[in-house]
Amino acid sequence: MNNIDIFLESVKNLQTVGTLAFSSKHLVKKMVEPIRFAEARCIIELGTGNGCITRALLRRMKPDTQLLSFEINDNFHRMTAAQLHDPRLRLINDSAENMLPYIYESGFLYADYIVSSVPLVSLPKQIEENILNSVLTTLKPSGLFIQFSYSTILLKKIEQTFGKKNVKVNFTPLNFPPAFIYVCKHNLNNAH
Ligand SMILES: C[S@@+](CC[C@H](N)C(=O)[O-])C[C@H]1O[C@@H](n2cnc3c(N)ncnc32)[C@H](O)[C@@H]1O
Repeated sequence: MNNIDIFLESVKNLQTVGTLAFSSKHLVKKMVEPIRFAEARCIIELGTGNGCITRALLRRMKPDTQLLSFEINDNFHRMTAAQLHDPRLRLINDSAENMLPYIYESGFLYADYIVSSVPLVSLPKQIEENILNSVLTTLKPSGLFIQFSYSTILLKKIEQTFGKKNVKVNFTPLNFPPAFIYVCKHNLNNAH
């Protein structure tokens, strides 16, 4: 897909893509910064898109860490599958809601980190709920869920899900649009 195809695909699917421009290198850096790569065995990405966060994860991952990346859009999935060839990466053309069986299939009980750019705010409420519930069942206790959003509308829901004291909010103006990054620790006592 060239840039025009990507733009048109984003316009056509604005509710699920959530933006007309993929993440800047500054936002990508902020998304991967909280990850302790030396300790990560299994990382999940939600919303592969053009693979900008996927590439940053692969650059930092150890040779024996696995990355499962979910993308619901068939064209974006095909594009990244044609571009990214790495034995540590599994690109999955399915909804983030269904992540749990895939990690079992890949030989893991939990993910150490879940990095998400799916536009939770613009997705139907039930899908947002399903994704957050899937995150809670798939992420290991004390693992991190890292999600960006272009507004703070999501903050209340994120704090309800993870417990207020387990959520840290970062921000970068160096993205279009500027973005908030929620870094959420999975604490079994505080999650609903
Ligand atoms: C804002 S774009 C981010 C793409 C890229 N990772 C980035 O940071 O620029 C969100 C991506 O999430 C995908 N997406 C939306 N809903 C999804 C779902 N339920 N499961 C998996 N991917 C989804 C969209 O198709 C889109 O590619």
